[in-house]
Amino acid sequence: MKVTVGVSGGIAAYKAAEVVRALQRQALEVRVVMTASAQQFIQPLTFAALTGHKVITSLWPQHHDRNSYDSDMESSIEHIAEAQWADALVVAPATANILAKFAHGLSDDFLSTMYLATAAPVLVAPAMNTNMWEHPATQANLETLRRRGVRVIEPASGPLACGMVGPGRMAEPELIATAVLNALGRSHDMAGETILLTAGGTREALDPVRFLGNRSSGKMGYAIAEAAQSRGAKVILISGPSALYPPPHVELVRVTTADEMRNAVLARMAEATLVIKAAAVADYRPVNVADQKMKRTGPLTLELVPTEDILAEAVRNRRPGQLIVGFAAETENGVENGRAKLLRKGVDAIVINDVSKPEIGFDSDANAATFLTLTKAIDLPEMPKRKLADRILDEVVALRRPQSLLVELGATQVPSREEKQAAVRRQIIIE
Ligand code: CTP
Repeated sequence: MKVTVGVSGGIAAYKAAEVVRALQRQALEVRVVMTASAQQFIQPLTFAALTGHKVITSLWPQHHDRNSYDSDMESSIEHIAEAQWADALVVAPATANILAKFAHGLSDDFLSTMYLATAAPVLVAPAMNTNMWEHPATQANLETLRRRGVRVIEPASGPLACGMVGPGRMAEPELIATAVLNALGRSHDMAGETILLTAGGTREALDPVRFLGNRSSGKMGYAIAEAAQSRGAKVILISGPSALYPPPHVELVRVTTADEMRNAVLARMAEATLVIKAAAVADYRPVNVADQKMKRTGPLTLELVPTEDILAEAVRNRRPGQLIVGFAAETENGVENGRAKLLRKGVDAIVINDVSKPEIGFDSDANAATFLTLTKAIDLPEMPKRKLADRILDEVVALRRPQSLLVELGATQVPSREEKQAAVRRQIIIE
């Protein structure tokens, strides 16, 4: 399959070479289109050498013979030919300017003209200064593009070339390549699945202005939603309050409290072939919620009652063939605690997050996990959350494959009663 990489003019333009390499590693044929300002940062020759193709640098012929109608004609229809050649267009880095041009249909250079002319999936990997990224004009342009089906590969947070620290750093090249593969539908291995997915944290009100909450940002759950959707699944995303934009074509159900999440899950359970509970649900809620804002009158003791365990309830309501995957945030003895949780809750798998490491986990862009089933503990080392989402889904998809429990256990071990029960739930053949 063929991909056009559009390079626009930001400091991250040098990373576009890595994007080209990452796409080539996936056996994709790559061509490059550069804007004029991109050429201030990196030479077309770099991309020509990497791709073995001429790099398109202008809408107009560079050394054309003004008397030759043919050469003008050839160049002016080149954008149409390129637009037809590409199975996907990915712009990396995408500057605020090129996003604005795309959003408003301007077409005064090759890349923006090709964007209008292509019917292929379009992806943009924005990279810019934090203030430019957060500016309402940029966000409005992104929203317009998202609504039109453009896939936005979110920038990461971190130190930027301008000296600021914040969102705006172009997503890692590997992540961009994964997004392109998904957009190309190269892996549609979740077609036919309907996923009921919970994400984010819940909030339990104390009074009209205060609540008990947790640090979950929803990033992991939203990444799973996007990954599953691009692998062909239908996704119902039940989300606690989150600042994230829902991925395109995902049905979003917003909830606030654990009880609202429970009702939403139970209401939609019957539609799902797969339930993934990535939400950080409150374990307790206040017995009383004050009608008016509480005043500071001295020491305060809150009385809390446990919330319903939604995951356990989902397992009790499970229908045949439905897979249920939980998450477990652990700060110590992850695999041990996760295994106990797996058995206690009766789920098919648990994704264990070690939330004791500040650089990964809550609100960060990277995460590491252990995918735990009754018989396996698969270590998923630190990687961007979007990539981890795909790795988790790879393991979930593998649960569907008919397999012998004895093969899973290693042929010598006799399965225990618990293992046999879990195998029956997962429709594993016991030999
Ligand atoms: N969960 C749930 N309902 C709750 C609490 C948790 O459905 N009231 C789900 C979470 O969505 C997650 C899994 O249970 O998929 C594990 O969450 P976690 O907080 O790690 O486990 P708990 O069951 O709360 O156990 P503990 O806090 O004692 O470790």
